[in-house]
Amino acid sequence: MYTLLRDLIKPLGVSGREAPVRAAIETMIAPFVDEVYTDALGNLIAHKRGGEGAKKLMFAAHMDEIGFFVTDVDDAGRVFFSPAGGIRFEAAAYSEVIFENGTRGLLVANDDAKTPAADNCYVDIGVSSRREAERRVKTGDTFAVVSSIRRIGAHTVAGRPIDDRVGCAVLIETAKRVKSSKYDLYYTFTVQEEVGCRGSKTAAYAIMPDIAVAVDITKTGDTPGADRMAVKLGGGAAIKVKDTSAICDPALVGEMAELCRKNGIKHQLEILTRGGTDASSMQSAGAGSRAGCISIPTRYAHTPLEMIDMRDVEACVALAVAVAAGE
Ligand code: CO
Ligand code: ZN
Repeated sequence: MYTLLRDLIKPLGVSGREAPVRAAIETMIAPFVDEVYTDALGNLIAHKRGGEGAKKLMFAAHMDEIGFFVTDVDDAGRVFFSPAGGIRFEAAAYSEVIFENGTRGLLVANDDAKTPAADNCYVDIGVSSRREAERRVKTGDTFAVVSSIRRIGAHTVAGRPIDDRVGCAVLIETAKRVKSSKYDLYYTFTVQEEVGCRGSKTAAYAIMPDIAVAVDITKTGDTPGADRMAVKLGGGAAIKVKDTSAICDPALVGEMAELCRKNGIKHQLEILTRGGTDASSMQSAGAGSRAGCISIPTRYAHTPLEMIDMRDVEACVALAVAVAAGE
């Protein structure tokens, strides 16, 4: 799983610019499904056909990562931007960034900025004039803090963008392990989650699933100053009960917990008081679906050092496999 995750973290895929991530996933998942296609927004849908009259089960993990769009360049060649997704500037400031074309730069704050924020940060790409800067970047280009991953301790891994390439890894591994299912299965890799769950909405509308399960990271309640939350790193797969954008189908939550008990999968129940996932848009697309979410507990979400426990990732795969098989 570590190797798979490491390979998935490399491509840059700021919201709306997921093509490099999509290309990587398409190659990885194709051997395990019947067809793979891309829709108008750029969602990648890997379909494993079910038998006659089989119910549709749609999984969704988002390909996009939080990042930035270039707005303009000033006379000194400084690059300004508009954020895509929930950037934590206190963590993003003084990081190395990479643009789509490979240009590197430093995201820094004004010297007199007390707290780094969108309106007092800029990117220094090592040039001194507008002319030089415009040879390297232009309005509309995207960039993000450079990707990275490292092992910390025996089971934990930290880096970015673990949100939500780890969910993509879980789905690829699930597709690999599920040999047969009572469902018509759709492994969906969505676009633009970080800017408001936009891709999963159109994908769900087209698929019209009976059951929809997002696979995404969630926060944990085990760090100083964290919001009240029962989820801990190393506590197993988190089964979402509720977040800001969705109240999960209670029967589905119960079924997932039962599958964990039956299969000896370590799990915990999640209520996230700030944040949402693709579960919300899939739940309310078209005539609606029974929706839930398998969450990977993650410390320091939306920073360059998102931390997960690989045992939790394995538990999420085991749960996703059990759900997909429809045991
Ligand atoms: Co996120
Ligand atoms: Zn996410």
